Amino acid sequence: MFHDRIIPFSMPTRIIHGFGSIERIPDECRRLGIVKALLVTDQGLVKAGLAQSLRGILDGAKLPYVVFDRVEEDPCMNTVHEGEQLRQAEGCNGIIVLGGGSPLCAGKAIALLGTNGGKISDHQGVGKIKTAPLPLIAIPTTAGSGSEVSPTFLISNEESGRKMAISSELCYPPVAILDPNLLRSVPTKQAIWSGLDALTHAVESLWTNLGTPLTDSIALRSIQMMFKSFVPAVFTDDMAAKSEQLLASTMANIACGNAKLGLVHAFSFPFGNLHVPHGLACGLMLPFVMEFNLPCCKPKLAQMAIAIGERPDQDENALANAALERVKQLYREVNFPSKVTEKEIPRSKFEQVIKETTSASQMRFNIRQAGERDLINIMERAYAGF
Ligand SMILES: [Fe+2]
Repeated sequence: MFHDRIIPFSMPTRIIHGFGSIERIPDECRRLGIVKALLVTDQGLVKAGLAQSLRGILDGAKLPYVVFDRVEEDPCMNTVHEGEQLRQAEGCNGIIVLGGGSPLCAGKAIALLGTNGGKISDHQGVGKIKTAPLPLIAIPTTAGSGSEVSPTFLISNEESGRKMAISSELCYPPVAILDPNLLRSVPTKQAIWSGLDALTHAVESLWTNLGTPLTDSIALRSIQMMFKSFVPAVFTDDMAAKSEQLLASTMANIACGNAKLGLVHAFSFPFGNLHVPHGLACGLMLPFVMEFNLPCCKPKLAQMAIAIGERPDQDENALANAALERVKQLYREVNFPSKVTEKEIPRSKFEQVIKETTSASQMRFNIRQAGERDLINIMERAYAGF
């Protein structure tokens, strides 16, 4: 399929992975010309002492910085504008983000406003911005969102009650620092949800219509690493597993940043509008979308099954089904729910979810075209569970 088309592959982010890699931040700041940084983070990371460790490194290197630690879950426009005002007032010419998906989204938005001006809602959409954002160093503290290597970010619009997606080739973070030490104290539930978001990124990149051998190979290797490291990374102090899980989640996003995403992420937007956290939403829908897509992507799911340890001498059908069974088995191992309940999506919101999924941009990338009837069937299967 890829042979007759021109499909670009981008990964402009410099990735520095390893224990103690946060010590490299001052060098990277100098390389990027950051003379005073705005350190964007959240209260949870301040309380966990991670922001303090980072401050120690910056102080030690005599690199001036100002802390903006008021980023909330699903950051809204006001927060971004507040951060940008502080940045301007303090004369910071670069951003360091320490955090999970929320601080990374807020930091990218502040970096964008730093050079493009206006309100963040002015820049909503794909490819709208004209000038490269201020330099940004992304330091993820969860293994999941992959935002550290993504040109896309989400900001909640408190006026419309909806999330705005902003994406541009210019918005890739120039540097991502992956230090597994930062994953030491991630709460179990958060580690499971963000891990399943990452797994979904890798699996979805196998079943879009923009996948190539480049994206497939990264996605398959990342799935293999996750199946090996997910359980020990979440439930034990196995730092090698946490390290592998962190790199695998970044790789998953490199794959899906290029191959794009499918139906699970299409569902995740209406779920998000009903305040279901993104990782939980993706985890809940992955097995049921996998079931729906399976007839159209058996060869790739068979490769996935082999990558995670299935015997390669089985026929393609058996292997593709085994990939689905392995995902369900993983859910049992981490005690993740096997169905959607009214707590996440009340029946009264069913039609709204279907309507909003239909208009999600990811619908067009999913390998199997899904009409309204299909979406209803998938949701009913998700309520019934496996
Ligand atoms: Fe995601």
